[in-house]
Amino acid sequence: MTESALTDSSAWQALQRHHAEVRGIHLRELFATDPGRVERLSFEAAGIEADLSKHRITAETIPLLLALAAERGVAERRDAMFRGEHVNRSENRPALHVALRMPRSSSLVVDGRDVVRDVHEVLDRMSSFADRVRTGEWRGHTGRPIRAVVNIGIGGSDLGPAMAYGALRAYSDRDTAFRFVSNVDATQLVESLRGLDPGETLVIVSSKTFTTVETMTNARSARRWLLDGLGGDEEAIAQHVVAVSTNLDAVAEFGIDPANAFGFWDWVGGRYSMDSAIGLSTMIAIGPDRFHELLAGFHAIDRHFAETPAAENLPLLMGLLRVWYRDFFGAQTHAVLPYDQYLARFPAYLQQLVMESNGKRVTLDGAPVEADTAPVVWGEPGTNGQHSFHQLLHQGTVLVPADLIAFATSLNPLGDHHVLLLANALAQAQALAFGRTAEELADADVPSELVPHKEMPGNRPTTLLLLERLTPFALGSLVALYEHTVFTEGAVWGIDSFDQWGVELGKELAGVLAPVLEGAAPDRELDGSTAALVAVLRRLRAQS
Ligand code: F6P
Repeated sequence: MTESALTDSSAWQALQRHHAEVRGIHLRELFATDPGRVERLSFEAAGIEADLSKHRITAETIPLLLALAAERGVAERRDAMFRGEHVNRSENRPALHVALRMPRSSSLVVDGRDVVRDVHEVLDRMSSFADRVRTGEWRGHTGRPIRAVVNIGIGGSDLGPAMAYGALRAYSDRDTAFRFVSNVDATQLVESLRGLDPGETLVIVSSKTFTTVETMTNARSARRWLLDGLGGDEEAIAQHVVAVSTNLDAVAEFGIDPANAFGFWDWVGGRYSMDSAIGLSTMIAIGPDRFHELLAGFHAIDRHFAETPAAENLPLLMGLLRVWYRDFFGAQTHAVLPYDQYLARFPAYLQQLVMESNGKRVTLDGAPVEADTAPVVWGEPGTNGQHSFHQLLHQGTVLVPADLIAFATSLNPLGDHHVLLLANALAQAQALAFGRTAEELADADVPSELVPHKEMPGNRPTTLLLLERLTPFALGSLVALYEHTVFTEGAVWGIDSFDQWGVELGKELAGVLAPVLEGAAPDRELDGSTAALVAVLRRLRAQS
């Protein structure tokens, strides 16, 4: 494993020379001069058809990127992750989300324990609980079945469940409402609970640590709401609040019956946890069988990543292409554009996955990382984005590589909607790549003063991911594809993709400032700006 000398390495240097040669070549030329391009740059993994031909690469680029991956030990690091080695070095633990979706028949012994057996024990408990809720066998305190599930969590304990519920809504139990509360802003809790009947509501408190301020604050308020609605009987809580956590002592301390707690392990990172017990709300929504299909999708891509030769390995190639744009073209952002409304929260989910994993400035050894790391990830579903920010994608002055994701078949077939949706996805990738030249505009009799405004430069790279239809399996495969793409980038950069120390200082400072806002003297000297803002807020709050 290499953690230093990234930019001095022969592979990096070769890529730099190569970039100087190819950066001025237009995709139009690349297509015109390379008839085998589409065939060579089309890939398939677990039902995901990927078109990488609209990337600013020649026949030499991928071999050079693969040489970089080899020099950086990406495959060795991948294998170490799959074996359960402590690849999360700064926290000294494995990053073993791949074990969450291993089949029951397999086994993986890590630090003396068969983690696959542990995983399936929890899955079985989740399944039996989910079935009881779904069939109405599980009753609330007043004897009524559950009609609303409220997941309280934040970050990975919210984004995964919320995204998955949105994505798989077509498969969900439509008689039950699902709500997701993350923000410490009470507005979200209040608006989410509005209209719900406490006697028919199940609250799932999801928190890996069970110490996260936002989640614990929301959980306490939700508990009060339940008690108020159920006549103040503390015993009612057992039928209405369950927990998902690695910290089962804190769960018990909070007053949740250990029988109603679903555990996971410190080797599951928050942003890699939607397929652990953190997915309990997903399982209640779609049922245990569909949840297992989701896991199978994850596992299919895990196997692809672990076993497919490098030149055909989709997550590896996608990760290397991201390094290509980030570090050689200097692309600061990356757009994810799902052409499926059910995937509306997928870009937000990927923001945490990519930016919390790879938004790092030092290597595993603590030395400054030599290249730029994660881009800013953003996006919205198509076709909405086309009528908003795509203008910049097409004619702005920054290069934004984009992933477009589309499904051949709609879950809501209605007239010509879906064919229009698909045509737009293809058209955007086409326009971004090939644009429209001044000559073409002149030939179409566009007035000369308008030609510069209407000219479309093109040469803007995209990955198009096509799948047959949005199923639980497809969703699992997509998420795993991105997980391993992120892993690949992190391994090239030699950073720890599994820690997130950068979020800690803000939490600590907020802990100091909360009592100060309520009138306490600060226990440390505040900077001038913050002290002045505290004074403004105290004054405004006193007035209201
Ligand atoms: O603050 C960041 C973070 O630790 C994320 O990594 C995590 O997904 C989120 O907070 C929630 O943490 P927990 O599940 O422990 O409440």
